[in-house]
Amino acid sequence: MKKGVKMNHPPRSSYVGSTNSELNKWVASVAALTQPSHIYWCDGSEQEYSTLCDLMVKSGTLKKLNPEKRPNSYLAWSDPSDVARVEDRTFICSEKQEDAGPTNNWTNPAEMRTTLSHLFEGCMKGRTMYVIPFCMGPLGSPIAQYGVEISDSPYVVVNMKIMTRMGLPALDALGQGPFVKALHSVGMPLSDGRPDVTWPCNKETKYIVHFPETREIISFGSGYGGNALLGKKCFALRIASTMGREEGWLAEHMLILGVENPEGEKRYISAAFPSACGKTNFAMLIPPASFEGWKVSTIGDDIAWIKPNSRGDLRAINPEAGYFGVAPGTGMTTNPNAMAAVAKNTIFTNVALTPDGDVWWEGMTETAPERLTDWQGQEWTPGCGRPSSHPNARFTAPANQCPSIDPAWEDPEGVPLSAMIFGGRRADTVPLVTMARTWEQGVYLAASIGSETTAAATGAVGVVRRDPMAMLPFAGYNMGDYFSHWLSFADKNLNLPRLFLVNWFQKDDAGKFLWPGYGENMRVLEWIFNACRGKTEGVPTPIGYSPKYSDLNWSGLDFSAEKFNRLMTVDKDKWTKEMESQTEFFQKFGPHLPHGFHGAQTQLKSNFRKLDSKVSQESQLCL
Ligand code: GTP
Ligand code: SPV
Ligand code: MN
Repeated sequence: MKKGVKMNHPPRSSYVGSTNSELNKWVASVAALTQPSHIYWCDGSEQEYSTLCDLMVKSGTLKKLNPEKRPNSYLAWSDPSDVARVEDRTFICSEKQEDAGPTNNWTNPAEMRTTLSHLFEGCMKGRTMYVIPFCMGPLGSPIAQYGVEISDSPYVVVNMKIMTRMGLPALDALGQGPFVKALHSVGMPLSDGRPDVTWPCNKETKYIVHFPETREIISFGSGYGGNALLGKKCFALRIASTMGREEGWLAEHMLILGVENPEGEKRYISAAFPSACGKTNFAMLIPPASFEGWKVSTIGDDIAWIKPNSRGDLRAINPEAGYFGVAPGTGMTTNPNAMAAVAKNTIFTNVALTPDGDVWWEGMTETAPERLTDWQGQEWTPGCGRPSSHPNARFTAPANQCPSIDPAWEDPEGVPLSAMIFGGRRADTVPLVTMARTWEQGVYLAASIGSETTAAATGAVGVVRRDPMAMLPFAGYNMGDYFSHWLSFADKNLNLPRLFLVNWFQKDDAGKFLWPGYGENMRVLEWIFNACRGKTEGVPTPIGYSPKYSDLNWSGLDFSAEKFNRLMTVDKDKWTKEMESQTEFFQKFGPHLPHGFHGAQTQLKSNFRKLDSKVSQESQLCL
């Protein structure tokens, strides 16, 4: 390109159109509606990635980081009004409102289509429309699914390249087959010579809409994360959960990890924690030095697709190919594997820029650099009273750059699950770890988890909200039916994993965490590993089974039995309130609430009643 010539669109694609006539038809109809200046079919090549990044450096959307510090990496600062998922603008437009259920926003699909078609009319004027074919899951896996995102955001294209198997290989594998249509626009047409901005979005109007019956996604007005990278929450959770319901599998907000003991026995475990509650950290856990010979490996950090195979094992895949992880709080002490994963080839969004062209965020190092440019482009110094990075600042990094990546992470058959863990951020009430007695009890406990809200979605931070299976914002259908779907696995003659509850987040009266967390979670993970192999049972409590102090390996950590017992307390008064709050939440589902839940709750109540007697919990609660 000649110097001084402003390139405002990518070069002509090496190919135009596909052999999939449904896709070609859809692309043509979207182009006719949105009226882009150019149409570009993404091939997913490295060269395309570099060209688009260069283009965004020129337009000011990206800053190229110092290649000596952070090779092939970029920084984006979003509009301050576009920093997280917008749950109140997220809709499940099933034909019947009842099928969306009481926890989802719903609008009649025909009405929503009319609203959206007005918004999309001419909405890509002056922009390039990118056609982004992608596969969720290893290419060719029987568990994988295909999608095509149409977007007017090159930032979306480069993120999709990292987060999914994107481009020609996905298009070839798709062939003539069915695919999920995912339409996205930042909602800011450049009509009549309107100049572009570095982070285009629509400040007034945002819609993140799902049509589960036709497996379509339409997103308007936001360029950020799960609002715009439609393979992630929109497809791999909301649409996929409806597919799973129809086809007998599960799409879950879960990390997947492998644990291997010094004897070389290995198990795979998944864990559901709400957004910004430690999935990435747990998925990449490094055991403390005293756990010599133990290995933890990473299959995924956010989403799991779980399908029974012909032998009755529940096999899980990570449908993603990268991490879109929370940056603040990630550092060499909390998550060295994530730090290694973001050492190169990474896109950072809404973190601070250092004077030497690298990135920084709260928690990356103990002491902050003396001077930074914050995520809003302002001068920043350690005492200035503002955080340098947005609390929901993120990194987009290729999964295979994580040193702990499991050799089987791309196994098309998935890995067999031995345990599933559920947890949230709870300052009290929920003990450090509990194993459910049965699948049914575990499903009930998993459905009753709650969490103090975090910055991953807009709204108040620190308020407890019920978040069943960490899926409240992600279930694509009536959550009552979702609970029944979970329970139905008990009737299928499967090798079901054991179910566990954890809580890393209990606090003392001064608001300090009581449990050290992070790598120390290995102590709990070891107990879970042994419990799901039948090597330890724990003692009965009203809500399940728990380890005794002596059941955990404490070597290398000074942690008293007294402190441990405090973390393990199942307090009758707190749980009475807890169950009232659960009942209130479950009442919303009316006739959709499975009968099994009433039984599970009656059982729990009766366990607590038994606590009244002076006889020890242990002898009373062997159920
Ligand atoms: P999403 O990507 O939003 O789905 O979130 P995630 O569940 O992957 O969250 P992530 O692992 O990025 O956790 C983010 C926050 O949890 C950071 O503030 C961490 O410091 C904190 N965190 C993670 N593990 C622990 C832990 O064991 N104890 C405590 N106290 N905090 C933790
Ligand atoms: C979450 O909020 O759970 C995320 C980030 O994983 S986003 O993809 O933006 O939804
Ligand atoms: Mn998530």
